[in-house]
Amino acid sequence: MKATALAHPNIALVKYWGKRDEALILPHQSSLSLTLSPLSVTTTVEFGASHDQVELNGHTAKGSERDRVLRLLEAVKAMAGKALGPAKVVSRGDFPMAAGLASSAAGFAALAVAGRAAAGLPAEPRAASILARMGSGSACRSVQGGFCEWQRGERPDGEDSFAVQRFDAAHWPDVRMVVAILDRGEKEVKSRDGMKHTVETSPYYPAWVQDAEQEIAHAREHIARHDLEALGELCERNAWRMHATALAANPPLCYLNSATLALIQHLREQRKKGMPVWFTLDAGPNPVLLTDAAHEVAAEALARACGAVDVVRCVPGGDAVLKAEHLF
Ligand code: DP6
Repeated sequence: MKATALAHPNIALVKYWGKRDEALILPHQSSLSLTLSPLSVTTTVEFGASHDQVELNGHTAKGSERDRVLRLLEAVKAMAGKALGPAKVVSRGDFPMAAGLASSAAGFAALAVAGRAAAGLPAEPRAASILARMGSGSACRSVQGGFCEWQRGERPDGEDSFAVQRFDAAHWPDVRMVVAILDRGEKEVKSRDGMKHTVETSPYYPAWVQDAEQEIAHAREHIARHDLEALGELCERNAWRMHATALAANPPLCYLNSATLALIQHLREQRKKGMPVWFTLDAGPNPVLLTDAAHEVAAEALARACGAVDVVRCVPGGDAVLKAEHLF
């Protein structure tokens, strides 16, 4: 009735930006990401508690945050097909919430894996990915390690919308993602609201959706060949296109700030001088740099020279795993 799981965050190289079903969290487009180590979230779930309790990073979760966790566990109970009683959940990330990288993907992936185990359900990446998706879309890509592809699926019930691992973490041990934290502040418009606004008001949105499916196929080829330059170019192009659709929304949605642009400019100059470094950017001002092991220190220096207050150097991460020790 009690289980603990650890999961890593992921960064999308081909991004998810827009839902066709908001309740089930079904995307308009497929996406592809790299799971990142060493950052992780650990979550313990116990059924049969006196009442529902959700503690996230030392705080009692309230409102929609709490509802999202309990909703996912309701789905676990439905899968188990038996009365499991109220749940106690304790979750802790080893990276600060405001680190610029959302911990929600790792958090919901760990919750799905621990929740299933606590309910006595077998380890099943596909089922865990579908569950994680119901908490936060990008979380479905953190159930497995390496490069994962969230297939949008076609079914209205979402049973074919989950992430599959295309290449495991060992496929490309030399690849690096360097998170450059330029701004620790909470973003003004959360991904969930920003993508909804973009779907509803951006005239560029249909083009963005159409583009994504073919980019996924290209990204897969570049990863298979360890072609960092081709993947880097694709990754930047995809980030710009996502931000372009958001900028074209009404009113416009701009996640970049002047420090983001300055870093991107500097990165381009370094690239002209021969440094293999590219960027991607989620719904916030903090770029994540794509490079290789030989250049991760230089990439960190580049980020710091552009005002990064913190830098996290990441390598390909592994699958979400069950742990023997619990958080309570
Ligand atoms: C820009 O997965 O956080 O990071 O499904 O509403 O919880 P919800 O959104 P979320 O959005 C992630 C958006 C993104 C791109 C990506 O990770 O693919």
